[in-house]
Amino acid sequence: MDTLISAADRALRTVFTSHHAARPYPGSVPEANQTTPLSEAEKRESAALMRVNHVGEVCAQALYTSQALATRDPALRRHFLSASAEETDHLAWTEERLRELGGRTSLLNPLWYAGAFGIGFVAGKLGGDRVSLGFVVETERQVEAHLQSHLNQLPAHDVASRAIVAQMKTDEARHAKEAESAGAVLLPAPVQGLMRMMAKVMTTVAHRV
Ligand SMILES: [Fe+2]
Ligand SMILES: [Fe+2]
Repeated sequence: MDTLISAADRALRTVFTSHHAARPYPGSVPEANQTTPLSEAEKRESAALMRVNHVGEVCAQALYTSQALATRDPALRRHFLSASAEETDHLAWTEERLRELGGRTSLLNPLWYAGAFGIGFVAGKLGGDRVSLGFVVETERQVEAHLQSHLNQLPAHDVASRAIVAQMKTDEARHAKEAESAGAVLLPAPVQGLMRMMAKVMTTVAHRV
């Protein structure tokens, strides 16, 4: 019951409140003040990309929380919850950058959260712990690739957004490795493909809404 209440609490906090990072904000790079200011069009594009990244982090919170709820192994539950704490930094940084760019978070965040929570919970319950971890590995790898594509798309002189995305990419790669060493199984190719398809829908919609 306690776990259930804390999961509900985490859901509401993720979707409806702003977040504080435990680590310093990577966007505070001195170079940010030395480059040409972003044009309105560049700000809009950067904000759209950072909104997509923010949605990704909302989904990360949902996934880790649901997987923590699904597992019966207390050590694995701690692993999922501590990973989700680190993802909170990402949530806070993307929120902060969106504010700086005059952008906003996705209006559909409750929907993204619910979808990711459902998928994480089903993966954890039906597949068991090693599949649940496999799911983390695949998600983190896809997010990492996605962040790389953002580094190619972000305006070259948006150094603040680039610094945030680069730090997130490093963290996601580590999350994938940690889940791998915790005993993840490799997900079958069709499942990986399905996950990529769902991510595509999410990123395309979140770019606009
Ligand atoms: Fe993240
Ligand atoms: Fe991650």
